[in-house]
Amino acid sequence: MTEFKPHPLEIVPAGEAADIERVTEMQIAIMKQHQDPSKRGQHPKQQALLRGVFEVSENVPETMRVGIFSKPQKFDALVRMSTGLLPKDSDPQAHGCAIKLLDVPGSPTGTQDFIMLDGSTFFIRDVADYVSFFTATSNGCPAEFFASHRREFGLSSAFNVVVASHLDRQYWAELPIAMGEGAGRLTLIPDVSNTSGRMAASTPDGLKDALVDFFVTQRREATYTFGVQPYIDERNTPIEDATSVWGTPFEALATLTIEPQDFTAPGQYEFCENLSYTPWHCHPDHQPLGGIQRCRKRVYEESQKLRHSLNKAEDREPTSDELACLGPVLDKAAA
Ligand code: HEM
Repeated sequence: MTEFKPHPLEIVPAGEAADIERVTEMQIAIMKQHQDPSKRGQHPKQQALLRGVFEVSENVPETMRVGIFSKPQKFDALVRMSTGLLPKDSDPQAHGCAIKLLDVPGSPTGTQDFIMLDGSTFFIRDVADYVSFFTATSNGCPAEFFASHRREFGLSSAFNVVVASHLDRQYWAELPIAMGEGAGRLTLIPDVSNTSGRMAASTPDGLKDALVDFFVTQRREATYTFGVQPYIDERNTPIEDATSVWGTPFEALATLTIEPQDFTAPGQYEFCENLSYTPWHCHPDHQPLGGIQRCRKRVYEESQKLRHSLNKAEDREPTSDELACLGPVLDKAAA
């Protein structure tokens, strides 16, 4: 994977590299001992892989016109909707939306990934705290960590929700990325027309059922606004404290459109299982920032290496040509 130097806005604490190794070792050990290591180490339940179109707006604010947002343009996207380690969709947990843009000029991997959850703020401040949290969790006693981290406990509870559908949730990348010399935090805001009208999931696979109902049975289209919260300075919008709440308003950058489609086509589930999403698949102007992002670089690489070797899958990034092997786009139902 491409090497990156720290961005001028980052302040790397002493001892962080050793903490990152520790988190990586613990993540891989947990996968081997307690989970199915041929699956992702976090957010292993694939609810759907959807093709989408990501369209950069003509009205991107001047200061944000960098990298992929430097001009109006369209990208094909692969969107993976997921849930966490709890197997039942009726269990309270976090809901993931990972977007991979394809054929991105200037990106060393040819892709740009945005990985998001339906909670606005991450619950662990930095890598040193992540080691303490992971150690307590691995010992079966997360309360040991939260007893001395009350605010983090409050933030973690926001990730325990039961929802009706992935499509009417707002998602946040939670952590900053570079916007050239500046920075920002990203969000994905659903259009009101994405509303499923369903009750919260009450069955083990209720969330996949909701997606099949929306895209295949009802042949509806989902649309989102993709926005950024700009960085101001270290006091108002800290880079290294992942639990900080940034007060700057979101500005629209792009739209994501997901057309009606048959995502249940043969082979599509396996194709998605072998994809690799990481914030480090990026255009150099959008380098991930802060300790938790630096940690994710190593952890995701190792999780992906392990599952690809077990699944005998190649570690490579897809291109738009491969969309042809996915299930067909369907005609939109008449309004
Ligand atoms: C140090 C902190 C973190 C660790 C150790 C961690 C660990 C992991 C691992 C091991 C994977 C599976 C990688 C793979 O095999 O492809 C993963 C996936 C994922 N993570 Fe994280 N993660 C962290 C922070 C975050 C944050 C802050 C977010 C939310 C914005 C997030 C959201 C996700 C999502 C949605 C996926 C699934 C991506 C996909 O669909 O392929 N993670 N994480």
